[in-house]
Amino acid sequence: MAPAAISSSISSGLSDENGYVDIDWDTLGFGLTSTDYMYKMKCFKDEEFTEGKLIPYGNIELSPAACVLNYGQGLFEGMKAIRREDGKVVLFRPDENALRMRIGAERMCMPSPSVDPFIDAVKQTALANKRWIPPPGKGSLYIRPLLLGTGAILGVAPAPEYTFLIYASPVRNYFKEESAALNLYVEDQFDRASRGGAGGVKSITNYAPAMKPLAKAKNNGYSDVLYLDSATGKYIEEVSACNIFMVKDKIISTPPTKGTILPGVTRKSMIEIAREQGFKVEERQIAVEELLEADEAFCTGTAVVVVPVGSITYQAKRVEYGTTDTNSMYKKLSSIYVGIQNGQIEDKKGWIVEIN
Ligand code: COI
Repeated sequence: MAPAAISSSISSGLSDENGYVDIDWDTLGFGLTSTDYMYKMKCFKDEEFTEGKLIPYGNIELSPAACVLNYGQGLFEGMKAIRREDGKVVLFRPDENALRMRIGAERMCMPSPSVDPFIDAVKQTALANKRWIPPPGKGSLYIRPLLLGTGAILGVAPAPEYTFLIYASPVRNYFKEESAALNLYVEDQFDRASRGGAGGVKSITNYAPAMKPLAKAKNNGYSDVLYLDSATGKYIEEVSACNIFMVKDKIISTPPTKGTILPGVTRKSMIEIAREQGFKVEERQIAVEELLEADEAFCTGTAVVVVPVGSITYQAKRVEYGTTDTNSMYKKLSSIYVGIQNGQIEDKKGWIVEIN
């Protein structure tokens, strides 16, 4: 359904003369601002998602026995719609998110939308909420597709019914310390993911267990937690909401996505950009001690974008990285990544999908 076909009586708030909703874009962080519409599509177990529709943003009704509430059968995705200086609204590699959701759905025994209906639903959601897409340079519309086992079930088994839902919120920086580097705490008591578990897919169950170590780290003044592999406790894996890279002697390294690390779309894009620029990129196990010896480190993610790491604290040791060098790998690669998204650098790879 085209956004224009939606009754204007169900939209909320006022738009200004440029078609923007009347909010202070300069105070946006990464908090929820509810927008006008969300997208909803349902299907039964062993069937396929076929047709969904935009509906006014609001609460959803669930059985107390919904599988997602009792057994965590759910996945989510994170994407962004960006408004460029020339007025175009673009998505970045939405096919990657669609495919990742399909892989996750297979792991979690759920049906999932195919790639084209997924992207179409994301486009519809972004356009229906266009007045909430921040002006160029002031942030983006964060788009959150959800796939939930919403059918009721008592025993541990896949839900009889599924809901694919997309909502959106205008956002800016994920971390409060705008443009400041992250101070990461290496967590050696709590693990994020185990071999054979769901750490390699975007299962909702990966996030609640990370809240306690995250709260502990934040209480101690750190920006976030860096997890180690659960099998040996020696190798770095990922941060609560982003992937990590290190650079040593101009060689870029990042932990491999072999089941315990989320295969981030930004991670994949940064690897491709770096290789195209002629840099060597290794996807391999990285011992925490090696990270402590790195020249620089940075984190990547849809919500986070690309942020430098300022320090790592592991047990009693804290190392600091220089983050002001204009020749840093972080600066070089992130400026290309952001340039492709905002249109200052030509997209030669077909990563950008214009939606208006
Ligand atoms: C994203 O980067 O979109 C994520 O899903 C991270 C999220 C936990 C905020």
